[in-house]
Amino acid sequence: MLKNELIFATQNQHKVQEIAAQINGTYEVKSLIDLAYTEELEETQETLEGNALQKVRFVANKFKTNCFADDTGLEVEALGGAPGVYSARYAGEGKSFEDNMDKLLQELGTETNRKARFRTVIALILNGKEYTFEGICEGNIINAKRGSQGFGYDPVFQPIGYEKTFAQMDIDLKAKIGHRGKAVAKLIDFLKAY
Ligand code: IMP
Repeated sequence: MLKNELIFATQNQHKVQEIAAQINGTYEVKSLIDLAYTEELEETQETLEGNALQKVRFVANKFKTNCFADDTGLEVEALGGAPGVYSARYAGEGKSFEDNMDKLLQELGTETNRKARFRTVIALILNGKEYTFEGICEGNIINAKRGSQGFGYDPVFQPIGYEKTFAQMDIDLKAKIGHRGKAVAKLIDFLKAY
């Protein structure tokens, strides 16, 4: 293995692009796609921390390599933190991002408290030891979808201090101010100091 190679335990190309842009040559990030591993990783825990650790432990063990995994949830205040760890399957197993957003907008209805946050937990296994890093992005759920970039709930999430939704934003800006970007920044600081 190359000195600065790290496996990102994901098959989501959007995430790889976001993170590779941020790491910017400091580390060579490879994903499960590069390892030709196409099976879905299990995420059966009840917390983001639990899922991130579950994924990273599986991949570190299977490929005998240093790696990191992330898990993200959208936590909506008026919904008691839902969809949270269930964000990917909020509208049911196998439903689309569109279905999940439609359900969210329907659940919120005319609720005036639209406060929400994305929270990412990254779990890292480096030389056999486990570490976790958290990143949070605060914002609001708007009333109707706007924009076509990104993925997931991006078209309905407007980060605080910005007019645009994540789906209308440049990928670099989203990486800089976003939940995953903040968690990755902590990961990078840690790796640099290691
Ligand atoms: P994951 O388990 O980290 O892939 O995230 C779970 C779900 O959260 C995804 O299926 C998306 O619906 C949502 N999600 C995660 N990250 C983002 C993001 O950056 N923007 C919008 N939605 C996201």
